[in-house]
Amino acid sequence: MDTTVTNIIVEKVKTSRINEVDFSDLPFGKVYSDHMLVCDFLDGAWQIPRIMPYQGITLDPAAKIFHYGQSVFEGMKAYKDKEGQVWLFRPEDNQKRLNISSKRISIPEVPKELFMEGLKTLLQIEKDWIPTEDGSSLYIRPFIFASGTGLHASPADEYKLIIACAPSGAYFSGKLKVLIEEKYSRAANGGVGFAKAGGNYAGQFYPTQLAVKKGYQQVIWTDDNTHEYIEEAGAMNIFVRINDTLLTSPISDRILDGITRKSVIAIAESEGIPVEIRKISVAEIITASKNGSLKEMFGAGTAAVISPISGFGHQDSDYSLPELSENYADRIKKRITDIQYNKAPDPFGWRYQVL
Ligand SMILES: Cc1ncc(COP(=O)(O)O)c(C=O)c1O
Repeated sequence: MDTTVTNIIVEKVKTSRINEVDFSDLPFGKVYSDHMLVCDFLDGAWQIPRIMPYQGITLDPAAKIFHYGQSVFEGMKAYKDKEGQVWLFRPEDNQKRLNISSKRISIPEVPKELFMEGLKTLLQIEKDWIPTEDGSSLYIRPFIFASGTGLHASPADEYKLIIACAPSGAYFSGKLKVLIEEKYSRAANGGVGFAKAGGNYAGQFYPTQLAVKKGYQQVIWTDDNTHEYIEEAGAMNIFVRINDTLLTSPISDRILDGITRKSVIAIAESEGIPVEIRKISVAEIITASKNGSLKEMFGAGTAAVISPISGFGHQDSDYSLPELSENYADRIKKRITDIQYNKAPDPFGWRYQVL
């Protein structure tokens, strides 16, 4: 199946809602722009995408998304620079990952052309919704779910791809205090942890709520087999700095191949920071914390870019991280955001111009 995008059907709003939005005080992911892209998979093929006013959708109660959870999504951002040019950050990686996720959940893959052309056309229409305040951006949420019906536990025959946009302020949750999880698992070998599948996140909520009740904001997921190795920080990839070396866990069946993670590794290496991609044991972090060699821990993901960790809990003990004025987290975050907002040269070729 190879759908080429000959045209995209566009129906614009009669009156924009943009004047109702306070761009100086934007929450994250709660306000939606005027239009969305919708594309149906029917009769074995992705149909012509439609851009239409943002609106609710009607689904049959027997739609398989409700019963068997066939859904995948992506999270990306569009940035506007001082000259009004519009940029995406490594969007082809999101497009590829959407298909990797879809394949694992038996959702038909979306042709690259359809996704990229649809996304660019939507952003051209929504360009005025891209905020320019420092740290803000247009958060983009592409997602696919099973709209086809039937209570037989098998893949649906119809799907919907939707791309919605949410002008969003800087994502700031402060420094995170995290709990190293020893009972629940986010993912298992042979499972779907590497996919951005909706169900992965549903499974995280309950253990995270338990951690919140104990005074932590997030859970550090460990391997499901031994709970001895750290894998992800909530819905972010995890980085640990011991002395001057930056460590991160290797991608596996259980870990999402984060685009921010890849970018952090590349930037650190380009700055001469020693990077080790290897299993990181809880015992090693605790020893490093006790002997003073544990300098930093942070999560990496599209929403916050980098979320520094102030301390972690393990079993009944709490460990805190030092406050360093010169730290990798701030330094690497600045390098990445300067590229995203077109404030600095992009030697990696990550920036992708839309307008
Ligand atoms: C489980 C998980 N890990 C890591 C990430 C970070 O990925 P990215 O940097 O591509 O946003 C995300 C967010 O997308 C995630 O949901």
